[in-house]
Amino acid sequence: MSQLVGKRITLGVTGSIAAYKAADLISQLVKYGAEVQVVMTQGATQFISPLTLQVLSRRPVSVNLWEEGKNSQPSHIELADSSDLLLVAPITAHVMAEFAHGLAPDLLTSVYLATRGPVLLCPAMNGKMYEHAATQANLKTLRARGHAIVEPAEGMLACGYEGLGKLAPVDEIVSRVLSILG
Ligand SMILES: Cc1cc2nc3c(=O)[nH]c(=O)nc-3n(C[C@H](O)[C@H](O)[C@H](O)COP(=O)(O)O)c2cc1C
Repeated sequence: MSQLVGKRITLGVTGSIAAYKAADLISQLVKYGAEVQVVMTQGATQFISPLTLQVLSRRPVSVNLWEEGKNSQPSHIELADSSDLLLVAPITAHVMAEFAHGLAPDLLTSVYLATRGPVLLCPAMNGKMYEHAATQANLKTLRARGHAIVEPAEGMLACGYEGLGKLAPVDEIVSRVLSILG
């Protein structure tokens, strides 16, 4: 359980109903010894409390781009430079679109643009949103950029729709992290 000792992971959490699963993901990564710096979108804070993720990651959670430097919050450039992996789980259709198009209106998207290391993205959304031509085009762009994607699973989605779009199981995400960093 020490494969990730000394590894720094920036974990982006975005505004999906699956955001609560980030809690389990953080616990597992911390058990493997990783230092996990959580960056949440404002949307994500509607689904899970920053305090929960702060306690599990054992460090302050970053949300606001405009609070850089306050309370020793690292800058978006420092976050990108000091990290061995940018993992975004779950990633919404919206943030995938921002990443694909280089839009950087908030902290997570700014960290993404400043990142030159590996990027692992774990989409979660309603199946119709996932299969939409816009989402698929954005995924193609992100794959072509060399980013690793953990495909969503099929099953009963929180919205009651049956199909593709569930966040991949946390164990599968952890395995991909281990294969990139371990
Ligand atoms: C109850 C609820 C559940 C949602 N779940 C998802 C989701 O799983 N995936 C997704 O892409 N968007 C989902 N959305 C829409 C996003 O929350 C919305 O696009 C938001 O602007 C995303 O913000 P962010 O991408 O900056 O975090 C959901 C919205 C609501 C109200």
